[in-house]
Amino acid sequence: MSTAAIADTKPQTAEGKVLWHFTMSLDGFVAGPNHAMGWMKGVSRPSLVEEYVETTGAVLGGRDGFDAFPEPSGTYGGWQGPVFILTHHPEDAPPTAGTTFLTCDVAEAVRIGLEAAGGKNLEVMSASIGRQALERGLINEIDLHIVPVLLGDGIRLFDNPGGAPVDLELLNDHDQVTTLNVRYRPVTDPNER
Ligand SMILES: NC(=O)c1ccc[n+]([C@@H]2O[C@H](COP(=O)([O-])OP(=O)(O)OC[C@H]3O[C@@H](n4cnc5c(N)ncnc54)[C@H](OP(=O)(O)O)[C@@H]3O)[C@@H](O)[C@H]2O)c1
Repeated sequence: MSTAAIADTKPQTAEGKVLWHFTMSLDGFVAGPNHAMGWMKGVSRPSLVEEYVETTGAVLGGRDGFDAFPEPSGTYGGWQGPVFILTHHPEDAPPTAGTTFLTCDVAEAVRIGLEAAGGKNLEVMSASIGRQALERGLINEIDLHIVPVLLGDGIRLFDNPGGAPVDLELLNDHDQVTTLNVRYRPVTDPNER
């Protein structure tokens, strides 16, 4: 990535926002099949982890992501804080320090998460809950780190068959262009990456 592209992305700010925050493949997946995450390695901008450790007050996730990765300290480097997991069956969730299992409406879960965030941001780390929250008008920003890889299968950021398009406005570019131009070539030699 060029330094110009990095410079265009201002550091995240802690303002009590509800962020739908993910690293995503170019074709729109946030996890590969069976929650595979190996495609994410080695990609971030400088200070990204520190930025989100500083601005994240609480995390809201879903049961599938929790079951795949139940250790909350893996969220962002050394981030520590309240984690809320929405599930229909909290009774079989393993007690986990710092993690509260919720069975409630998504709006109530967001309200609880924002309160716990104490003025910092609530990170929605779930494709399914992000979609539900977006439908309810509860997402302030969709914050994505797009990895130059095509996965072709897995969990999509926004899986909403039959749904209407959702218009978005670019927040991190000076002229708020509505279309980004990117140019890639397939990497044939794995040592190139
Ligand atoms: N790329 C990245 O940056 C990144 C970061 C973090 C995580 N991830 C990955 O993202 C994936 C997230 O998966 P996902 O979004 O498909 O699943 P998920 O949100 O983690 O889990 C979905 C499940 O959460 C429960 N749930 C969702 N909404 C609910 C509601 N309103 N009320 C009660 N329970 C509710 C349901 O489980 P039950 O009915 O079983 O309770 C539902 O099947 C995981 O693979 C995770 O590892 C990626």
